[in-house]
Parts: sequence; C-alpha cells; structure tokens
Amino acid sequence: MNALEIRNKFLNYFKNHGHSIIPSAPLIPENDPSVLFTTAGMHPLVPYLLGEVHPAGTKLADYQKCLRTVDIDEVGDNRHLTFFEMLGNWSLGEYFKKESIKYSMEFLTKELNIPVEKLSVTCFKGDEDAPRDEETAKIWEENGMPKERIYFFGKEDNWWIAGETGPCGPDTEIFYDTGKEPCSKECNPSCGCGKYVEIWNNVFMEYYKDAEGNYTKLKQRNVDTGLGLERINMLLQGKETPFDTEIFKPMMDKLESLAKNDNLSSRRIIAEHLRSSMMIIADGGKPSNIDRGYILRRLIRRMIRHLNKIGIELDKLKELIDLNIEILGEMYPDLVQNKENIINTILAEKDKFMKTLENGEKELQKELSKLKAKGEDTLSAEEVFRLYETYGFPQEVTKEISEENGFKIDLRKL
Ligand code: SER
Repeated sequence: MNALEIRNKFLNYFKNHGHSIIPSAPLIPENDPSVLFTTAGMHPLVPYLLGEVHPAGTKLADYQKCLRTVDIDEVGDNRHLTFFEMLGNWSLGEYFKKESIKYSMEFLTKELNIPVEKLSVTCFKGDEDAPRDEETAKIWEENGMPKERIYFFGKEDNWWIAGETGPCGPDTEIFYDTGKEPCSKECNPSCGCGKYVEIWNNVFMEYYKDAEGNYTKLKQRNVDTGLGLERINMLLQGKETPFDTEIFKPMMDKLESLAKNDNLSSRRIIAEHLRSSMMIIADGGKPSNIDRGYILRRLIRRMIRHLNKIGIELDKLKELIDLNIEILGEMYPDLVQNKENIINTILAEKDKFMKTLENGEKELQKELSKLKAKGEDTLSAEEVFRLYETYGFPQEVTKEISEENGFKIDLRKL
C-alpha cells in the first residue's frame, strides 16, 4: 500500500459511514492573518467546531495539507518533516466518543489490517479542568483493546488545543508498536524512545479555553481526529523513515546519484524542503523577508545551501522540481497546475540567493582577514548582524564559513 491508497481508503471508509468528503483547505489560511500556515486539520474548521453550520453537514472527512515550522532545524534526522498530510474525520455536534473510537479501531484493524496487538492507546487522566476520561478507556476495552495497553496521562500528552485559546478537549492517542525492545521497565507510549509511534489522535472537543485560562463547555460536542499520512505509510511499509517511502525515495536516490560529496542528512533536507516549498508556492506563497514569505525563503535557501554542500550543480534544480512533480503530482494535482510558477519562483529565489552569497561572502572574508591580522578568533555579534542586515547573509551561513576558516562566531542576540 502507498500513501495515496491509504488516503483513498480513509476517505472511502468514512464516506461509507455517512461522512461528506471535503477538499483540503490551502496551506495558507484564507482570511486568517493570525497564523502563518495551516498547522493542523482543525484549523480551517474552527468556526464550525464553535457552532457555525458547515455547508457539507455535521459528519465530514478530509485530508489536510499542514505545515509546521517549529522544528525546521531538526529536518535532516530520520523523522522530522515540515510539510505533512493529516487525514481527519469530524463530527460537528453529531457523534462522540463511542462512534469515533469504533471507527478508528475498525479502520486500523480491518481496512489497514494492523493486528490489534500492535496498538496501544492513551487517555486523559483528569485534572481540575476536566475529569479523568474513564469513559474513553471503557469504550476502548469494548472495542477489543486489552486493559494493560490503555494508559492515562495528563494535559501535556492527552489534551489538544491549537495555540493558546480556542476549542479544545481531552484526546485519546493511538500508538503503533514498532517491535523495538522496550527502553526500560517503564517504557510506554509517552516515553518517546521510538518503540511506540503515535499514529492517530482523536480529540473530544467539548471545551473552550479563553485568554484567562478558563475552560467552559462549548455548545456542541465535536470530534476532531488526525491521522498522520506520512507516518502511517512508513509504518505499514515497515520502513524506519518517511524518506524510504515512495514519497521521498526517488528524490533521495536521484540526489545520491548527483552528489559529489554525499551526505544523508543534506539529502533529506533538500528533499523535504523542496517538497514543502513547492506546496507553499502552489498555494500562493511568495518568498519575502517577512512572515510566511520568510519561511518559504528560508526553506528554499537552506535547500540550496545543502545542494552546494553535497556538490550538486544548481542548474539541476529544474530537473529536481520536475521529478518531484512526477512523484507527487497524482496526490497533489495543484503542483502540476502550478508547475511554471513553482519553477520560476524557485529559480528566481536561487538567483537572488546566489548574489547574496557572493556579496556577503566577500564581505565576510574581508572581516575574517581583519580578525586574523589582529590575532582574534571570534566574529562579533554586531558583525554577524551587519552581514545579515546589509547583505541578507544568513547567520547559519556566516557560522559555517567562519568555522571553515577556523573562526568562531558570537551568537549573542543583539
Ligand atoms: N487536532 C489534532 C491534531 O492535530 C487531531 O486532528 O493532532
């Protein structure tokens, strides 16, 4: 099974269970300047979770393109992604815990054929804001989950809210056991050792958190679920990382064949950032120096630096974009429709960045020579900032080049 097949199975399953299928909202939220990108499936649905009537009804299913950039610097390891797809089923004041859990269990074990022995779940253990969720645990048991694989945790693990305020509630998370050895006697789904991987989150959204931190009941009880597509795809294929699945593998192989000094982490950064950049551009994003435009700029520039690092000529960029459209075009037809714009935007940004690199590097080399003449070994924070302000020279590039020349940089924030 591949990612597209899983997505189709998911949407069909929920369609057959009375859900209307709604299209993914764009990555760039419409009419919402308060957030840069859609970061979760619930994002475009917030008004309806609060009670507005959705034109497609009260039971919905969708796939949602999401972008989370808090972990951007972690990309390059074996799991972090900025762009990902969330499959979700939604009850807007309609069904609640019983049906939601039954659907999840049935979809995972009957449609995806995951043995129930591979699954464990976590529930909210309760606090002063909301009671312990024994009801959810009981429903899991009724659906065949053995008691010893039902865990209880606090808000940090089993409560979902997007941001600081808004609709929220206790959740129950479903974990997949990779079969790795337990890390200790206490090894459990929340320990983070990698034995258990979270695959699906069912949020029972019946609260609202206000700016003072008070929780009140919403006028309707909702269900918001999110199943991470890249992750479930990787697990079902028995792979250790999403980069080994069909979503990334052909690009990873292509980069390997082009690289003069291969480096796995750089190849992951290139493949990941290229995919995210293309998705943002297809949804109307443009590189700039602020907000979302800056995130896009940062993704493209980081990708280019790593192409340079592993010795791939930048005139190969167009070929790489074409390849990504081949890999991803069936899943994301927007990429095919926006092909010209994607190519033009990325290539124009590459040209700008090359100029920046050239001018900034000349200036940096001058500064490093001055330091050398004075017998000093650290580039000041003021200088790092000046290179950024005047030449747009990114701090991480200053650091890299300085270090290559035997200098440190002062990373103090000014
Ligand atoms: N909102 C929840 C999440 O993003 C479930 O969709 O995990």
